[in-house]
Amino acid sequence: MLFLLPEGLAEWEILSAKTGLSRAELLQTLLQLKAEGFPVLVEERGAGLAPGSPAPQILFPLLRGKFGRAYRYFGFVTSTQDVLRAWQDAPIGAVVLAERQTRGRGRHGRAWESPPGNLYFSVLLGKDADPLLSLRAGLALLEAAKVGGLKWPNDLLAPDGRKLGGILVEAEGERIFLGIGINVHVPPLPTSAALAEFREVQRAQLLAHFLWALETWLREKKEDVLLAWKERNVTLGKKVVVRTGKEVFEGIALALGEEGELVIRTKTGVHRIYAGDVVLCATDDVKDPEVGEGEAEGGGSGHGQGKGPGPSAK
Ligand code: BTN
Repeated sequence: MLFLLPEGLAEWEILSAKTGLSRAELLQTLLQLKAEGFPVLVEERGAGLAPGSPAPQILFPLLRGKFGRAYRYFGFVTSTQDVLRAWQDAPIGAVVLAERQTRGRGRHGRAWESPPGNLYFSVLLGKDADPLLSLRAGLALLEAAKVGGLKWPNDLLAPDGRKLGGILVEAEGERIFLGIGINVHVPPLPTSAALAEFREVQRAQLLAHFLWALETWLREKKEDVLLAWKERNVTLGKKVVVRTGKEVFEGIALALGEEGELVIRTKTGVHRIYAGDVVLCATDDVKDPEVGEGEAEGGGSGHGQGKGPGPSAK
C-alpha cells in the first residue's frame, strides 16, 4: 500500500481504483502507516505522501547511478546502521533509510537524535574504500547540501557554524557501513541547524543527489579529493580542540595530511590526528605568531565563518 501512494494528495476515488480498497479500508491502512512513522498525508480531499518523501516510488526516478537501487525504507528503526548490517546479501551501494531512529548513533559513541523530517540513512560500501573515505563522503554531503562548509573530517556546518549533518563510518570485515544524518527540516538540538533554513529542499532529491555525488567522489583521484576538501573546509587556520578518545590536543589546525589526517600545532609540537573530534574555538582565523602568515592551508575562506558548536553539538 505504501508503495502505491503518490507524492502529494490524490483523490479518494483515484486511490480506491488503484488499490481496490474502499475509502474506509484505505483510511484504516493509511492511519496505520502514519502510526508506523511514514509521512502519510490524510485530508478530506484525499491522501498521499508528503512531497519529497524518500519512498522508493519517489526516489527511484531521481537516481542517476547504481547507489540506492537496492533500497529498504522504514518508518522506525533502532539505527539504520544495524538494519544494513543485518541485511546479509545487500549489494554494494545498498541503502537503508528510516524516517526515525530510536537509537541513532553518532561518532564517538554519542547518540544521534532522530526526529521526523530529516534524513537518516546508511550506505553499504566495500573493501576498496580508502583512508580518504571520510573526506570523500563529506565532499558528497556538501555537494548535495549546497550550503556551508566541512569541519574535519566530515561534519557539515551551516555558514553560521551550527551543525547540519554528520557521517559515521563503521566496518565489519570487508563491509563498510556509511551512516549519514542530515538535518533537513528539523534541527534536533538548539545548537544545530536545518538545511531548510537556508534553501528550499526536498528530501528525496537531496538523497538522490548525495548518492550520485558519493559515487562520483569515490572515483576521484586522491590529490583531487585532498584539494577539494581544503577548498571547502572550515577547519584549517582555526584554533581547535581535538579529542581522540585517549588524548586532548589544543592548538591550531595547520594542514591536511596525505592520508586525510589533521595536522595541528600545539604547545608541545606538531601532531598528526587520524581520528578524532574537532571543536572550533575561535570566530576569526588565527593570527598567532606561532603560525606564519599563509602557513595554514586552505582555511575555509568564503564560507561565512561562524562560531563552532560545542562538543556535544550536532
Ligand atoms: C556524527 O556524529 O556526526 C555522525 C552522525 C551519523 C548519524 C547517522 S543517522 C543514519 C545512521 N544511523 C545511525 O545510527 N547513525 C548514522
